[in-house]
Amino acid sequence: MPVRRRRFMQTGLGAASWLALPGALVARAAAGATPASSTADRYPPLVPGYAHLLHGGDWNPDQWLHEPQVIADDLRLMREAGCNAFSVGIFAWSQLEPQEGRYTFEWLDGVMDGLAKNGLRAFLATPSGAKPRWMSERYPEVRRIDGTGRRLPHGDRHNHCFTSPVYREKTRAIDSRLAERYGKHPALAGWHISNEFNGSCYCELCLGAFRGWLRARHGTLERLNQAYWTAFWSQAFQDWDQIDPRESPLDGLMLDWDRFVTHQTVDFMKNEAAPLKAATPHLLVTTNMMGTFTGLDSRRFTDVCDRMAWDSYPHLHGTESWKQVPGLSFVHDLYRSMKGGLPFILMESTPSQTNWFHTPSLKRPGQHRQEMLLAIGHGADSAMYFQWRKGQGGFEKFHGAVIDHEGSTNSRVFKDVASLGAELGKLDAVVGTTVRPEVALVHDWEIRWALHRAQGPRQGRGDWFNWFDKEYLTTCVDHYRPFWKRGVPVDVIESTQPFDRYRLVVAPMVFLLQPGVADRMRAFVTGGGTLVLTYLSGVQDQAGLVLRGGWPGGGLRELTGVWVEEIDSLYPNPAQRIVMKAGNALGLAGDHPVREYCELVHAEKATVLASYANDFYAGRPCLTVNTVGSGRVYYLAARPAEEAFHDAFAQALVRDLGIARNLDAALPEGVTVQKREGGGRTFLFVHNLKAVEQALDLPRGRFADVLAGKDVPGRLALPAYGTFVLERL
Ligand code: GLA
Ligand code: ZN
Repeated sequence: MPVRRRRFMQTGLGAASWLALPGALVARAAAGATPASSTADRYPPLVPGYAHLLHGGDWNPDQWLHEPQVIADDLRLMREAGCNAFSVGIFAWSQLEPQEGRYTFEWLDGVMDGLAKNGLRAFLATPSGAKPRWMSERYPEVRRIDGTGRRLPHGDRHNHCFTSPVYREKTRAIDSRLAERYGKHPALAGWHISNEFNGSCYCELCLGAFRGWLRARHGTLERLNQAYWTAFWSQAFQDWDQIDPRESPLDGLMLDWDRFVTHQTVDFMKNEAAPLKAATPHLLVTTNMMGTFTGLDSRRFTDVCDRMAWDSYPHLHGTESWKQVPGLSFVHDLYRSMKGGLPFILMESTPSQTNWFHTPSLKRPGQHRQEMLLAIGHGADSAMYFQWRKGQGGFEKFHGAVIDHEGSTNSRVFKDVASLGAELGKLDAVVGTTVRPEVALVHDWEIRWALHRAQGPRQGRGDWFNWFDKEYLTTCVDHYRPFWKRGVPVDVIESTQPFDRYRLVVAPMVFLLQPGVADRMRAFVTGGGTLVLTYLSGVQDQAGLVLRGGWPGGGLRELTGVWVEEIDSLYPNPAQRIVMKAGNALGLAGDHPVREYCELVHAEKATVLASYANDFYAGRPCLTVNTVGSGRVYYLAARPAEEAFHDAFAQALVRDLGIARNLDAALPEGVTVQKREGGGRTFLFVHNLKAVEQALDLPRGRFADVLAGKDVPGRLALPAYGTFVLERL
């Protein structure tokens, strides 16, 4: 089965604006490196010297070589659609090298020339996402071995071994030729390495590499045995060669396997990136990641990707679709935050239907435009699609595309795309601007893996996604949503990223505590920061060993001023509630239902803000605050069952800390606002995500509707699925 996971005007501002950045910063940012600080005024565009939002997507002319007219039509239609950038040749290896060592680049020469002649840009792909048949036959080692020990047949994509020297050599060879041939081509905008890396291989080469990686990580077998607690069930290793991640009840080993799979994939990508970077150091290399896909820690790709890029396929259907949007926004914020605010690339999205959905509903009028402008509002400098044109055959022939099988520009989808293209052309000034939050939400892949691999503290909910990480991601979104609802911008960072640029850091379920994190949390709070921690924090170390001496462990007991003695796991619909204490410092009142987790807490130093209502632990603390230095640490010991608690808590924190909102206005339900700043300008992306008209009263001041080119009245009428891009004047 192929991988179908998942599972989300101002013109006239020229180059001068980003050239105004300090010289060193420009140099670093131009090469795509993480900027040194969030003070960068405006980042360079994705394509050097091309200050436009990119609009386009995956184009597969390699499927149409038998019909050159289609390719010629495409080039014309791309301009009509207001598109300017395409990912080309992603799965074209057998068209580029039909026999070993025989390269047939001529058709690609024509495609690249055609793009250039039409003023269009190419993210030229390396074709390693799908290997040619001759390679699978001649070099079986390139074919992945699955968890049962079976070598996979050729068919399908994304099924190669990441370690195989042959595969690495073959990809290096074709990538080097692509770099050599097209490095100076005027159409070349950057490199799209492979496609949606995923999966793992259990061949001897991979297992050997894993063992080598383990040696480097643990040093000696003795230390490894200790870290994995192998005395358990008589699992001790006497030889490195005995280690096989498929047969172990040791969660520490599984965690290391998760890390190794990411490491090996990044290493594979580095092998691909090297010849491209050598030929074109000024152009970006990236790969399209799968959002919050659990199998790879996307953040580990930040060193090899000049810009982060992700593929977004949200399920936005029905009148309640807006309720899915916070989860989507969360992922956009995650990808922007990975490189400290550097605009990211929305590399794929569907212009209409997604064929692998169970129910591929159509996007309602306005929804597509809105989805793209939402991504841009969060910091994307592109709106790209899968796919430009529907293929006539193959697995994705029914997947949405800008050009339908019918072939003309008369379709609703084409018109939507073209009208968006015209609008994006008015947003040049947004390019390189960014989002500057005062709030950060911590989300670590390490925590997801640790929760997945641990047997307990309870199981996840039924559906695959929540079962996998025991609702860690859902919990992160639960803590993110109340800020989103209020138009408070949030960075989604990992626990090892700096905290000092924020005023409020919310870190739910820090189940696995990485080295140094507790100390950095303490320094952040001592210096005046506000930190929110929750149940299931400081439970185990990086190896997977439980932190002893009372939870939250690893230094967090001191910091929070609480000791978690036991964790009660609740059956559905518990009677338990969080009761706010009269006169608490946050000014919160009332009570709230909980679900699943209630920790039995001793407030050792902390002040109690709320306590439990029922059961034998009625009256025990469940929300506390501890003052440390000039900052505060909140500890939430139970999982709230409803949004109301999160809303009230976040609102109190925002008010208490005076945290700025994107727009000082009462936002109706289903209305969200993002803000991008830079070059001395401020852009607001205002969305009515509901299928009914709403109105928004703007605060005092002057606002221009950038797309319509006129000032807006104080009361903004928001049509169903309506989005405005406003500039604060
Ligand atoms: C992924 C892949 C594309 C295509 C789309 C379909 O994002 O990268 O090649 O298969 O899914 O939605
Ligand atoms: Zn392998």
